[in-house]
Amino acid sequence: EKTIIKDKLNRPLRDLRISVIDRCNFRCQYCMPADQFGPDFEFLPRSALLTYEEIERLGKIFVSLGVEKIRLTGGEPLMRKDMPILVKKLSAIEGLSDIGLTTNGVLLPKVASELKAAGLKRVNVSLDTLNDELFGQINGRGVGTGPVLEGIEAAKQAGLGVKINMVVKKGLNDTEIIPMAEYCKKQGLELRYIEFMDVGATNGWKMDDVVTKKQIYHLLKEHFEMEPVDPAYYGEVAKLYRYKDADVNVGFITSVSESFCSSCTRSRLSANGQIFTCLFNGNGHDIRNFMRNGATDEQIAERITAIWNGRDDRYSDERTAETHKTRKKIEMSYIGG
Ligand code: GTP
Ligand code: 5AD
Ligand code: SF4
Ligand code: SF4
Repeated sequence: EKTIIKDKLNRPLRDLRISVIDRCNFRCQYCMPADQFGPDFEFLPRSALLTYEEIERLGKIFVSLGVEKIRLTGGEPLMRKDMPILVKKLSAIEGLSDIGLTTNGVLLPKVASELKAAGLKRVNVSLDTLNDELFGQINGRGVGTGPVLEGIEAAKQAGLGVKINMVVKKGLNDTEIIPMAEYCKKQGLELRYIEFMDVGATNGWKMDDVVTKKQIYHLLKEHFEMEPVDPAYYGEVAKLYRYKDADVNVGFITSVSESFCSSCTRSRLSANGQIFTCLFNGNGHDIRNFMRNGATDEQIAERITAIWNGRDDRYSDERTAETHKTRKKIEMSYIGG
């Protein structure tokens, strides 16, 4: 049986985003800029990472406290060995209705079918442009779009649901808004445009760099006829539309221009076992050492409950051009978005 726990703003705990590793094979400018995450950057040692057994144990406890959806993230989650083994453990948890994975797609050709067999339902693949040169520049590794497109194809072939995430940054890839829409529509892929966010402290975010949902929507309207789609569930992150001449959705993730904190039911578990109550709140709560020091399931559940009960985060509601400089935040690569 499930206990329902609420935070200070009366929001229940429904989702758990688990970062399985802080490393990535890309260096996207807006996430892990290469000049900040260079060859000498110290990533977490293996011993700091939660083991699959530990993640499974915490997953079960979170589910007993109301979590219904789990999303695996990174860094790049597929950089961690044997991910299908973890997916299998998690998908066996009773009471869970959804398991997804957010990835850059490059390693999908190797593991998509194993992931599907292990119980994964969907992948969200990041792709910000179809232009190889620009893509290589954005991912900081000079990798063209080919490997990502192959990853998308592999996921589809394996029977996984696939959505595409496109972070839009002014002057960088806003010319790709229409080409990406056309491509995804044709391929039957749901594309979500993501407003560039001030995550972490290394990506040089400025309000001026943001292309808002409204701007993108107006541009799309010049090319396509769309109608709004009702949210599939309370608190859905993306605002969705459907093309009138195709059974394909297109959406917006509007953290900057239309915040969605009032219905935010998401908790985050970092690769080294800290709980974060908001993408923009850098104060993590240790759970790994507590667990390694012998806490019982009951004690862990109590601690998670206390953390959730004390939560009052609503960063995007409160964001101004200044807050991103004054708040202590956490890098995207630690908690996977
Ligand atoms: P589904 O809707 O389950 O497919 O997943 P998702 O869109 O929640 O997850 P995904 O990892 O694909 O994230 C897409 C974008 O939404 C990323 O840029 C995330 O950082 C952002 N995002 C997800 N949850 C939140 C949130 O609670 N707050 C903010 N500000 N951004 C979020
Ligand atoms: N702003 C918005 N989205 C971001 N992502 C990474 N960094 C940022 C940012 N600064 C996206 C990735 C991926 C998802 C997990 O978060 O592109 O799709
Ligand atoms: Fe890696 Fe994803 Fe961050 Fe790009 S956005 S650096 S692919 S974790
Ligand atoms: Fe949730 Fe924080 Fe995002 Fe608001 S900014 S939706 S509270 S994670």
